[in-house]
Amino acid sequence: MDMLLNPLNRRHRLRNDIPILSGAFPMVGHLPAIVCNLPRLLRHAERTLGSHFWLDFGPVGQMMTWLDPDAFALLRHKDVTSALIEEIAPELFRGTLVAQDGGAHRQARDAIQAAFLPTGLTEASIGDLLAPIIEARVQAWCDRGEVAILRETGDLMLKLIFSLMGIPTQELPGWHRKYQQLLQLIIAPPLDLPGLPLRRGRAARDWIDARLREFVRAAREHAARTGLINDMVSAFDRSDDVLSDDVLVANIRLLLLGGHDTTASTMAWMVIELARQPLVWDALVAEAQRMGAVPTRHADLAQCPVAEALFRETLRLHPPTPLLVRRALRELRLGQRRIPAGTDLCIPLLHFSTSALLHEAPNQFRLARWLQRSEPIRPMDMLQFGTGPHVCMGYHLAWLELVQFSIALALTMHKAGVRPRLLSDVEKGRRYYPTAHPSMTSRIAFS
Ligand code: HEM
Repeated sequence: MDMLLNPLNRRHRLRNDIPILSGAFPMVGHLPAIVCNLPRLLRHAERTLGSHFWLDFGPVGQMMTWLDPDAFALLRHKDVTSALIEEIAPELFRGTLVAQDGGAHRQARDAIQAAFLPTGLTEASIGDLLAPIIEARVQAWCDRGEVAILRETGDLMLKLIFSLMGIPTQELPGWHRKYQQLLQLIIAPPLDLPGLPLRRGRAARDWIDARLREFVRAAREHAARTGLINDMVSAFDRSDDVLSDDVLVANIRLLLLGGHDTTASTMAWMVIELARQPLVWDALVAEAQRMGAVPTRHADLAQCPVAEALFRETLRLHPPTPLLVRRALRELRLGQRRIPAGTDLCIPLLHFSTSALLHEAPNQFRLARWLQRSEPIRPMDMLQFGTGPHVCMGYHLAWLELVQFSIALALTMHKAGVRPRLLSDVEKGRRYYPTAHPSMTSRIAFS
């Protein structure tokens, strides 16, 4: 029963000749098990049904799920659409590029992408902007001696993203509150009444959008100013087929959503792994001392192989986006299988990331797999960021932020003669959907 499946639903049924996993609840399907213990659910399904089956996502319906790593290629298939993402969370993703395909997607993405590539990040001195914020926060943790790690990394990431967008520091608390309310839209029941999450979430979104609209206006008035929003506005305004401000605002809001939870969760897991692995901590401290300071340019990251391996191995074991969804536009083939047009697909990145088909001793945390390799990074090695036209736009930014963070942590704590230690169970209360993160109550001491 601790798998959170419905004991009254034991019937084995087929749909399109593919088994439907039993144990779904009315209304919520397998969502309780997906949210609370996705890896165990997938192992259970694999053991009882084999490598493909239907999972029930409750209000969103059933999704055909593959455990075979070949399914990763579906993300590059021209006949799959991302429109399903908007159907799942229309309040958040309507009009954003993550839910678009083809020309519309390319147009919006092209207008934003340059600012997120290594040259764009370096030209805008993003590393110089972020480093002091990270250092100050890590120093505060050191002074306090003990923190609830996920709460802290969530807070730090929000501050970093807001700074990237040029939101003045004194306005941060207000933004913070609205952002938390905005997140409620992901799980809000469809009841639009005063005081309920849907009403509050929509109000927060309208508040945020109104301010983003002001930023866009200010960016046009002061075109010479630099900064992420200014870059985006001028790129949008330059594009051949000028996009409406609604599209621009929805996509700026998407950056906030895409760049916050994912990176905050990874940052928290990094600290947890450093507390669990004393030898990794020692190697990181040695590298940080060799560096002497937090790197600020992308070109500097090559000098931080240990921090980079920590970033990749943490993401491999704890991918913050454990599954992606798509819909088949036409009939597709995957190996011997036929996927009918209109099928909703679940692509379980988490399963591939920890698959014995792709990694030796897949459940062990081993920096050596990255430090000892000589080949360049392939799409499969960074599958936690997706692949194909929608591959994460924030990959280089996340890499920079997380390496900066780990070097700052090692320098600050080592100077004070302390190291991270785990004070609580990170598994109890761990979540896997819609984004994955360690227990909200995980505590870390620096002692
Ligand atoms: C560890 C950190 C991160 C992880 C693991 C991650 C993961 C992902 C994944 C899996 C996708 C693909 C979604 C799909 O195909 O449906 C994606 C897309 C995206 N990510 Fe990230 N992300 C991270 C950080 C960031 C950051 C820092 C930003 C920007 C501030 C960002 C912005 C985006 C955007 C805009 C997209 C949509 C791209 C498109 O649809 O073309 N992400 N991310």
